[in-house]
Amino acid sequence: MTQPERKTEIEFKTHSYVLYMQDKYDAYRKWLEQENLPAYDGKFIPNVRTLELGDWPRRKARGAFLEFRDQNVSECYVTEIAAGESLPPQRQMYEEIVVVADGQGATTLWWDENSPRHTIEWHRGSLFAIPLNCNYEHINTSGSQPARLLSLTDAPVTWDLYRDPGFIFNSNYQFRDRFDPDISDFYKRPGKYLTEYYGGILDTAFVSDLREVKLVPRSKRGAGTMNMYIHLAGSTMFAHISEFPVGTYKKAHRHGVGAHVYTLDSTGYTMMWKDGEEPQRYDWQEGTVVSPPAGYWHQHYNTGPIPAKFVALHASVALGGDAAKDGKGLEQIDYAYEDSAMREMYIEECRKNGVEVRMKEVSSTDHS
Ligand SMILES: [Fe+2]
Repeated sequence: MTQPERKTEIEFKTHSYVLYMQDKYDAYRKWLEQENLPAYDGKFIPNVRTLELGDWPRRKARGAFLEFRDQNVSECYVTEIAAGESLPPQRQMYEEIVVVADGQGATTLWWDENSPRHTIEWHRGSLFAIPLNCNYEHINTSGSQPARLLSLTDAPVTWDLYRDPGFIFNSNYQFRDRFDPDISDFYKRPGKYLTEYYGGILDTAFVSDLREVKLVPRSKRGAGTMNMYIHLAGSTMFAHISEFPVGTYKKAHRHGVGAHVYTLDSTGYTMMWKDGEEPQRYDWQEGTVVSPPAGYWHQHYNTGPIPAKFVALHASVALGGDAAKDGKGLEQIDYAYEDSAMREMYIEECRKNGVEVRMKEVSSTDHS
């Protein structure tokens, strides 16, 4: 393993932590600057499927970072692979979970030249994890269409901890408890539905189509809400799918950092606000990412003609934090206590779209 040239003496004449405290040194941000991609900040991306990207020579791709950096835990980035192209292999000492936003392709994963290679074939709506420090190579198998991937990583934590690209991108430790290449069908065997657990958990290595995952009732989170958590290939990061019917909205809630909500189906909007501030509206469609900052209330409203479905990508510590009054990392506003102006806005939006509001009907048949 070769070590990259270091400039430690120059960088750390003053102790790095002192620089960090003075906002003069941030290893993750420094890496982002070197990658020289567009970086979008805030808490909302209208559509990653059409987001403007920049050339990314190191990855032989195009890309952008979604720099919701106030979270300090996990961040998204977008990769676009040109038709028929493959990206250079990479390994990294941080976790990554990937939603396929568009296109079709394959990802090959392996530990070293002596271990079997496994290949995942993906398309729009697939979900998979890149096991920690596993070699991987993405290929676009379409000869005519680009492919877009939305990834969540915990790279900010890794950069804060290690700072050294030689360790982060060039270590050869194999975490075989996460990916055992000797299990020949590791990525092909069916997942296990553990529905007796909180909200239902799908334990799997690969989800071919998020829209086909079986869901279980979770009306505690909103009228008619269906849910399923997904744990992937031993990753500490995870995902969950939520679906709620036509003419309904979920309950407002808040929690800690790190959740990135990617819309799969329908149209609608999310209201987001901090205590004492006016709620702000963020309209969504397939491809939208909403990432509520820590402690921000947020509430998802379906105004489209089909059930709304999203997948939320989570860092391992996403639901902790000061908002955890009930001991489960979640604080909620029941419908009886919501702001009536927000319900009126919803009724008006549904009327404009010709959608019938079904809150009472769905709530009265909901016994889960
Ligand atoms: Fe949330």
